[in-house]
Amino acid sequence: MEYNLKDKYILQLNEKEKALETRDLNIFYGEKQALFDGNLQFERYKITSLIGASGSGKSTFLRSLNRMNEGVADVKGSILYRGIDINSPKINVYEMRKYIGMVFQRPNPFSKSIYENITFALKENGIKDKEKLAEIVETSLKQAALWDEVKDDLNKSALALSGGQQQRLCIARAIAMKPDILLLDEPASALDPISTAKIEETLLELKEKYTLIIVTHNMQQASRISDYTVFFHLGNVIEYNKTKNIFTNPKIKLTEDYISGNFG
Ligand SMILES: Nc1ncnc2c1ncn2[C@@H]1O[C@H](COP(=O)(O)OP(=O)(O)O)[C@@H](O)[C@H]1O
Ligand SMILES: [Mg+2]
Repeated sequence: MEYNLKDKYILQLNEKEKALETRDLNIFYGEKQALFDGNLQFERYKITSLIGASGSGKSTFLRSLNRMNEGVADVKGSILYRGIDINSPKINVYEMRKYIGMVFQRPNPFSKSIYENITFALKENGIKDKEKLAEIVETSLKQAALWDEVKDDLNKSALALSGGQQQRLCIARAIAMKPDILLLDEPASALDPISTAKIEETLLELKEKYTLIIVTHNMQQASRISDYTVFFHLGNVIEYNKTKNIFTNPKIKLTEDYISGNFG
């Protein structure tokens, strides 16, 4: 089957709905181009899933959104956040990441207590008041659906938690900074089905307060939790639409073949 990678359908949002937008994003690892002309818009307080076969450029794209690719990939094009191009060399990347946080595939808590995992960055950012810190620890853990399990053990090492709990701690750590946008790269792929279900429930609750963009190789997961879905193929954004449309009525043949399991 021959596909024309120029056949695309990319949904456009209204200006006021957009939390983040990429324009003509082209990403290179040395000579190799891993993303072609990424033009996408992400809606505020929604979950957008990025799906596609392994190596299709999902992580490359996601990581560029808060410049985690810095020094590894060459990212050309603009990324608009509140009217500012955050891909500009003038941007203070550390400052920007307070607004656009990331959770990785493998839970990566610090080898410190549960409490300190959450307060570390807050303290670095000048929040020293003990009551304030305790309050943020509690609300973050509640939002990440971990509070009930750890509230009596906040001084325990984070490394003593299960994988699923560690990942919810990493989510709590990310939201403690009160970001606007949370990027998640296959946050449940290393977890068992019960922990995965918990993470999915957590994400559905988080979208009341945050804009979520999540890479998942699990199409059922994308259809369960996301409002919008983007399908990537060989570094191209082929189709972007409401999740329901992508899974029940894709506009592009390549999307249809991918979601019906014909390749990848
Ligand atoms: N650090 C890197 N250096 C060189 N090539 C990379 C690097 N990371 C990813 N790539 C390449 O970029 C392409 C897209 O990879 P990636 O974004 O990880 O895809 P996905 O997340 O969809 O599996 C692949 O061909 C991959 O081999
Ligand atoms: Mg990936």
